[in-house]
Amino acid sequence: MTSSQPITEAFLQLLSDSLSDGTFRRLVLAKPRTADSCPRITVREVLIRKELMLSIVSSFPTSDITKNVGLPEGIQVISAHILSTYLRVHLTTAVEQIDLSANKKGTVTIHRQKVGGTELTAERRHDRVKKRFVPQDRPYLTEVGITDRAGQVIPSMARKWKQINKFVEILDGAIRSSSLAEQSNVNVVDFGSGKGYLTFALHDHLRTSLDKQAGVTGVELRSELVDQCNLAARRVSAEGLTFVCGDIGTTRFATRSSQSTSAFDVMVALHACDTATDLAIHQAIVAQSSIVVCSPCCHKELRPQMRIPEALNSVFRHGVHLGLEADMVTDSLRALLLEANGYDTKIFEFIGLEDTSKNKMILAIKRAPSDADVEQRVAANREVATVKSFYGITAHHLETLLNA
Ligand SMILES: C[S@@+](CC[C@H](N)C(=O)[O-])C[C@H]1O[C@@H](n2cnc3c(N)ncnc32)[C@H](O)[C@@H]1O
Repeated sequence: MTSSQPITEAFLQLLSDSLSDGTFRRLVLAKPRTADSCPRITVREVLIRKELMLSIVSSFPTSDITKNVGLPEGIQVISAHILSTYLRVHLTTAVEQIDLSANKKGTVTIHRQKVGGTELTAERRHDRVKKRFVPQDRPYLTEVGITDRAGQVIPSMARKWKQINKFVEILDGAIRSSSLAEQSNVNVVDFGSGKGYLTFALHDHLRTSLDKQAGVTGVELRSELVDQCNLAARRVSAEGLTFVCGDIGTTRFATRSSQSTSAFDVMVALHACDTATDLAIHQAIVAQSSIVVCSPCCHKELRPQMRIPEALNSVFRHGVHLGLEADMVTDSLRALLLEANGYDTKIFEFIGLEDTSKNKMILAIKRAPSDADVEQRVAANREVATVKSFYGITAHHLETLLNA
C-alpha cells in the first residue's frame, strides 16, 4: 500500500481491539522523526481505583515523566503522535507483535508476528468481567453504532460504550435492591432517549440478564431519531421496545392507581436539558415509579434567582463559581423534593470527568412504607424551604409542578 492512512487506521483499530478484548500489553513510540528532544514513549495499562487506564511514560535522557489517562484520551494521544512524530510504533499484545514503521519518504509498512498466544491471567479476566457489564457481542450494539459488523467497539464510540456499561451496572444494582427485584414485569420510560443507546442496553439487560418481561419506551422530540430507533428495534427483534415521538412535558403515562399496564416502574432521563429533567422527575413521582435515574444537563433556572450572602461575594463574583453553585443547589433541591415524595436519593458522579462533563447522576429508589416515612417527608420539605430561603429562591420548576 502506498497511502499511509489506511495502514495507520488499521493499526489504530488493532490497538483499540486489543484494549477492548484485554490482550493489550504494551505500546512503544520510538525513533522520532526529527532528532530533537522527543522522548521515547511507552504505554501500558494500569488499574487505578478499579478503573482501567493507560500509563504513558515519556523517557527523557535523565528522567521519566508518567501520565495516567483514560482509554479514550490515551488513544487520542497515540493517534496524534503516530507517524507524525515517530517513525516506529511497536504494539505488543498477548498474541502478536505488531510493528508499524515509516521511512522519511512516507512509505509505511505494518508487520505482524504471532507470539505464542499467552492466556489472560485469571486476575485480568476477573477485572474484565467486572468492567464489562454489557456483553459486547449483542446485535443491538451494532445497530445503534457502538460496534462495527465484526463486533468491535468503534474507537470514536469508546466513551459512550463505557457510559452504557456504567449506566447498566448502576441500574442493575438499583433494580436488585428495590421492590422490582421480585417483579416479573418491569416497565421503563426513557425520557429524551436520543439515539437510544441506553434504552436498547437497558431493555436487553432486563430481558437477558435479569430475566424480566420488560416493556421499554423511549420518548424523544426528534422524529428522525424515533424512526431510526424503531427501525433498529425491529431489525434486532427487540420485543417490548418502542420509541415514541413526544415531549417529556406532555407525553402522559398512566399512573399506577389507574391499574394500567402502561404505568412505569423505572424512569430514566439522561442529559435532558435544563428543566426537562424536572418534567421527567415530576412524571416519575406522579406515576410512583420505583426507580428514578437522571443525569441533569444544563441548569439555567436558579442562577438568576440566587441571592448570595455578602460574605461570599468575592467567591461568587466569578461567574463560573456561581454557575457551579446554581447546579449544585438545583440538583440538591431535586433530591430533597424526591425525598419529600417518598424516595431515598443519592447524587454521585457516575462516570469519570475525562469521559463526559455531564457526569452527575441522581438516583432515587422508592422507600418501602414505614412509620418513619411521614417524618422523613416533613423533614425533607423543611430542608427545601431552608435552602430556598437562604438563597432567596422563589421558584424551582419541580416544586412548581408538584404543587400544581
Ligand atoms: C443530550 S441527548 C441525550 C440522549 C440520551 N438520553 C443519552 O444520554 O444518550 C438529549 C435528548 O433529549 C431530547 N429532548 C430534549 N428535550 C426534550 C423534551 N422536552 N421531550 C423529549 N425529548 C427531549 C433531545 O432531542 C435529545 O435527543
